[in-house]
Amino acid sequence: MNPRPMLSPDVLEDIDLNDRQLHADYDLSEVWRYLRAERPFYYQTARGSQPGFWVVTRHADCTAVYKDKTNFTAERGNVLPTLLAGGDSASRTMLALTDGDRHTQVRNLLMKAFSPKMLSNIGQSLRTTVDGLLRDAIEKGECDFARDVSGKVPLVAICDLLAVPQEDREYLLSLTAHALSADEADATAEDNWTAKNEILLYFADLAESRRSSGHNDVVSLLATSSIEGEPLSDGELMANCYGLMIGGDETGRHAITGGLRALIHHPDQWRMLRNGEADLQTATEEVLRWTVPSLHGARTATADVVVNGKQQIRAGEIVSVWFASANRDEEVFRDADRFDLNRTPNKHLTFAFGPHFCLGHYLARMEVEAILDGLRRMVDDIQQTGPEKLIYSSILQGISSFPALLKPDRRVPPQT
Ligand code: HEM
Repeated sequence: MNPRPMLSPDVLEDIDLNDRQLHADYDLSEVWRYLRAERPFYYQTARGSQPGFWVVTRHADCTAVYKDKTNFTAERGNVLPTLLAGGDSASRTMLALTDGDRHTQVRNLLMKAFSPKMLSNIGQSLRTTVDGLLRDAIEKGECDFARDVSGKVPLVAICDLLAVPQEDREYLLSLTAHALSADEADATAEDNWTAKNEILLYFADLAESRRSSGHNDVVSLLATSSIEGEPLSDGELMANCYGLMIGGDETGRHAITGGLRALIHHPDQWRMLRNGEADLQTATEEVLRWTVPSLHGARTATADVVVNGKQQIRAGEIVSVWFASANRDEEVFRDADRFDLNRTPNKHLTFAFGPHFCLGHYLARMEVEAILDGLRRMVDDIQQTGPEKLIYSSILQGISSFPALLKPDRRVPPQT
């Protein structure tokens, strides 16, 4: 329902790939295909006061940039909107925007929060949450899957991980939904900044209250740990809680809604899943490759470098890496434009690559798998019942509203 028109590569020189409206209004598949084939290192020139930047679209070149920590830095920003606006205020406080030894130290600390033990506790409550949300959606008849189901799953998981009090969760959801993208076309960059600042302030208070609380959660872990005898600074504490919240919430929501949409558009794959002919973990990887919630990431060159022996990049230049294109690279994925729940191997770049590889990948995979499993067990048929609404962002891609009807599987005994 309401597919976006395909944008022709002929207009490439006139469009701005950093324009949030562009990604909501058009399907860029043909543009990516053309760039991969003809101009794998395309330089988008300055648009007005906005500086130019490199656009990298092939899988092999994207990984080459992302693994090269000698010649590229994430510290000035890791997405185009902040880099092109002059840099990110969370530089060297948020993990994703920290490089070198400090990055390794803080990442090692945070890895404890993502240990199998911590996550297995969350796994139980995640499955219960997912089943409950699906049951409610089924009983409701028509639902807005994006809001009623996807909107709640990652938030519950991440709030459990951070032990955010129940009464604050709705408030945080309303903020995270506006920090990186917008549901409305007329939302401004200021709306994003306001939401981001309110989340930071919320976590500043929460972290302060956990400095001596004896809780066993990630905020307490960060608030009470030290590196080389020094506690994390207030800025690091706030920024990293924010990073987990943002990294973990909106991306996951879009993977889940996009997954449902893909199943509706590919009824043969839905039938396979329902009939138990698709391995859940393999299917999860394909949903992640297909939906690719992070459209792009970006780096700044710290030295003159020739990437993959092909393209000279000068020190100081901004390089954007398009996961949305790399995940459809014909050189890496057989029948790349086919949604195939049994696809193996599946070396997608949905969680990026290299030293900043997504810290929450395992949790995100658990969320998608729980949804696929719940749908497979509880739902007989899925239909889209109204037009979907896409988000406005050049950083993320996803759906903010998706009217759907989930018909119950009569084989499942009703809950008492
Ligand atoms: C990093 C995507 C879920 C936390 C990243 C990056 C990507 C990404 C592309 C690399 C950014 C860059 O370096 O330019 C996703 C997607 C998700 C997801 C698509 C869901 C489908 C999560 C979850 C969490 C999380 C659930 C935590 C609860 C992080 C953190 C980093 C990160 C902390 C920074 C890692 C570092 O710099 O070492 N994610 N993410 N993400 N992600 Fe995720």
